[in-house]
Amino acid sequence: MRVFLASIPLENTRVVVIGSGEAALAKLRLFVGSPAEVVWFAPEGLPEAASLPLSGPQARQQMPDAADLSGSRLVFIAVEDEAEAARLAEIARGAGAQVNVVDRPALGDFQTPAFIDRDQIVVAIATGGTAPILARDLRSKIEAILPAALGPLARLAGELRDTVKTTVPDFLARRRFWERAFRGTAADLVAVGKPAEARREMLRLLNVAAPEAGVVHIVGAGPGDPELLTLKALRVLQDADVIIHDRLVPEAVLARARRDARRLYVGKTRGDHSVPQDQIEALMIEEARAGQRVVRLKGGDPFVFGRGGEELEAMRRAGVPVFVVPGVTAALACAASAGIPLTHRDHAQSVTFVTAQEKPGGIAPDWARLAGPNQTLAIYMGAGRAAETAASLIAAGRSQATPVAIVENGSRPDERVITGTLDDLGGLVARANLTGPALLFVGECAAFSAAQLDVRAEVAA
Ligand SMILES: C[S@@+](CC[C@H](N)C(=O)[O-])C[C@H]1O[C@@H](n2cnc3c(N)ncnc32)[C@H](O)[C@@H]1O
Repeated sequence: MRVFLASIPLENTRVVVIGSGEAALAKLRLFVGSPAEVVWFAPEGLPEAASLPLSGPQARQQMPDAADLSGSRLVFIAVEDEAEAARLAEIARGAGAQVNVVDRPALGDFQTPAFIDRDQIVVAIATGGTAPILARDLRSKIEAILPAALGPLARLAGELRDTVKTTVPDFLARRRFWERAFRGTAADLVAVGKPAEARREMLRLLNVAAPEAGVVHIVGAGPGDPELLTLKALRVLQDADVIIHDRLVPEAVLARARRDARRLYVGKTRGDHSVPQDQIEALMIEEARAGQRVVRLKGGDPFVFGRGGEELEAMRRAGVPVFVVPGVTAALACAASAGIPLTHRDHAQSVTFVTAQEKPGGIAPDWARLAGPNQTLAIYMGAGRAAETAASLIAAGRSQATPVAIVENGSRPDERVITGTLDDLGGLVARANLTGPALLFVGECAAFSAAQLDVRAEVAA
């Protein structure tokens, strides 16, 4: 180890920043929301003094002298002139402070690491001043996997620390308790902003000898590109004991899960449900009741034609703790990668996500309402009925020349975009020999897809 990172409590601590430029502002921003007493000396003016939400900052447009720096614990010096920086460092050190001199490590006592700030929990990455950009890169990677609500979780743990110590005197048992508390439902409740419920759950855990109940996360896996997983989806996936997934979730996404997580494939193709819905729900309940952290991983978003609502209801009925993590739905992903804006001030004032595949005996879409101009339709599960859908829309008044686009395997390496007009939608689908999931776009905006623009360029040439 070439550098040692120590942590300094900021309560009742005086921090001084000297300088007027961007480097000084960057140091000041570090202390936004902290309990430190921050004093800012900006001899060349206070550029953004009003916009920095520091609690009670004292900003002074002057160079500090020894009396100004007395009682300071940390002094950051961000001035251009090297001799001046050295002089200020001497004064600050004389006042008993630790000194950081921006861009001149040799003049200071410490360097500023790259921080990940979660209130009580602070992660810092230091490179001994050798590679600050590498430290920033590492910070982004670590930042992505750390839950946002770590601070409140640590605060709750702090509040319960004495109670836990009294209730569980044995050190090892206490460690096991905390491990379960930090991995379990209490942490999930903190993450969704329910600290009171989280507190109750931790106390329940403390007072029952029974093993912790499992939990189900119904998670949107997005359209197939693993980079389109949300940070939260990635985190719960990496924390899961069991992953129950269906056909729309590709290996590239599953590969982001914990390696030793059990994977249960429950299939589902249109009209051929490998495992019936009620059995999928029973499986989720059974695994959760066995104390497992279950991720029910579904393509796109669970609440957009994903039967996530039914599964949520089933978990609630069974009394299983359940959370929903949204995902990027196919319409959004396909539109983005095909370059089709879903709304456009000149062409579409609304967008409708609609399925052409209603439940047997269910309600058919109201094509008459959906046939109006200046709107975009994103049709899920529509390939099998493309010709009928086009006929219904045209019969209800939509122009035959309305642009359409078919996006197959949207966001995946084998994505295809096929464009044309509404009167030929059935033919386009038939000729395309689709093998992957496909989304149909109908509306003026479909003309913006890169594929359609290429066709127009060819015609013009
Ligand atoms: C049962 S729905 C599930 C939708 C999913 N819950 C969502 O939010 O995207 C399946 C349909 O979504 C569409 N779909 C899903 N992933 C897709 C992708 N990567 N590319 C194109 N369409 C996709 C297709 O229309 C497919 O038939």
